[in-house]
Amino acid sequence: MNPVRLMKVFVTRRIPPEGWAALARAADCQVEHWDSDEPIPDKELERGVAGAHGLLCLLTDRVDKRLLDAAGANLKVISTMSVGVDHLALDEIKKRGIRVGYTPDVLTDATAELAVSLLLTTCRRLPEAIEEVRNGGWTSWKPLWMCGYGLTQSTVGIIGLGRIGQAIARRLKPFGIQKFLYTGRQPRPQEAAEFQAEFVSTPKLAAESDFIIVACSLTPATKGLCNKDFFQQMKKTAVFVNISRGDVVNQDDLYQALAGGQIAAAGLDVTTPEPLPTNHPLLTLKNCVILPHIGSATYGTRNTMSLLAANNLLAGLRGEPMPSELKL
Ligand code: NDP
Ligand code: DGY
Repeated sequence: MNPVRLMKVFVTRRIPPEGWAALARAADCQVEHWDSDEPIPDKELERGVAGAHGLLCLLTDRVDKRLLDAAGANLKVISTMSVGVDHLALDEIKKRGIRVGYTPDVLTDATAELAVSLLLTTCRRLPEAIEEVRNGGWTSWKPLWMCGYGLTQSTVGIIGLGRIGQAIARRLKPFGIQKFLYTGRQPRPQEAAEFQAEFVSTPKLAAESDFIIVACSLTPATKGLCNKDFFQQMKKTAVFVNISRGDVVNQDDLYQALAGGQIAAAGLDVTTPEPLPTNHPLLTLKNCVILPHIGSATYGTRNTMSLLAANNLLAGLRGEPMPSELKL
């Protein structure tokens, strides 16, 4: 009798319990993982992936030609526990006929919720206000003290009216937004209809919005999209929020715009690099709120993401349709 050939799966981190349990139940796979909450060092990743049929990775793992070479010809499926795929060398992956799974939809609500939280935190200056209470700066109720900018009757510009962009607009609408503007590669009239959102050029969105939220994917076309020119086009009273990827923003230009009063404030859930060094100039600014990439960070969402990532991987390895396969 032939011994059963197990497929080798490598997982680059400890993942939440639902995803882990699904992998552990797979009798046709031999699963190895980097048993830590911290990122796997490059050398360990290359060692771990060698000969693997499936790789379950995170957005912190760079899957480039070098890693694919280290994996070798067995590798048939890469499943990332993220909706963003900018850490994957997709051309190289496609050339090798490797299938890719990712986790759209299941994190849309959590990320949109965080985006709205970050917008309100930034435009109403909550971190500064909390700090004033703690440090004794709160001396009296004063007419113009701690004033910020409100959403009612405002124009909101969304860069990327995709799944998350729409979910953000849906949550903002009840705040009494007067007008939504959006950009993208092309108009999305069906999706935009729900918000009567107007498709505009990036300069027009920059110039006319009171609040700008970046919700696009990171691609060569969006890298550095929000730069000096962009910030110079914005209103001095406008608030900028980025929940997509740090590289969509030129951070030096953002710093200049915030420090010089070119724009009112910024809220960032994503930066370059991550983590942002604690001595980074942006952290010296009161009008810049920075979060540690927590858009999808609810227990339920992360568990669901891990399960979807595991199911994508297993389906791909078994030659079945994946629940969420990226079209390459
Ligand atoms: P979608 O694919 O649904 O949306 C991506 C959007 O990017 C689309 O609206 C697309 O617009 C837009 N886009 C692509 N190219 C351009 C361009 N050149 N100019 C302007 N817009 C562009 O993805 P999701 O909404 O699910 O996720 C979006 C991104 O959010 C992810 O890729 C990820 O980077 C980030 N993210 C961050 C999280 C966090 O924790 N902070 C959590 C989850 C996601 P069109 O197709 O119309 O061109
Ligand atoms: C993603 O999935 O791309 C986010 O950045 C993390 O949830």
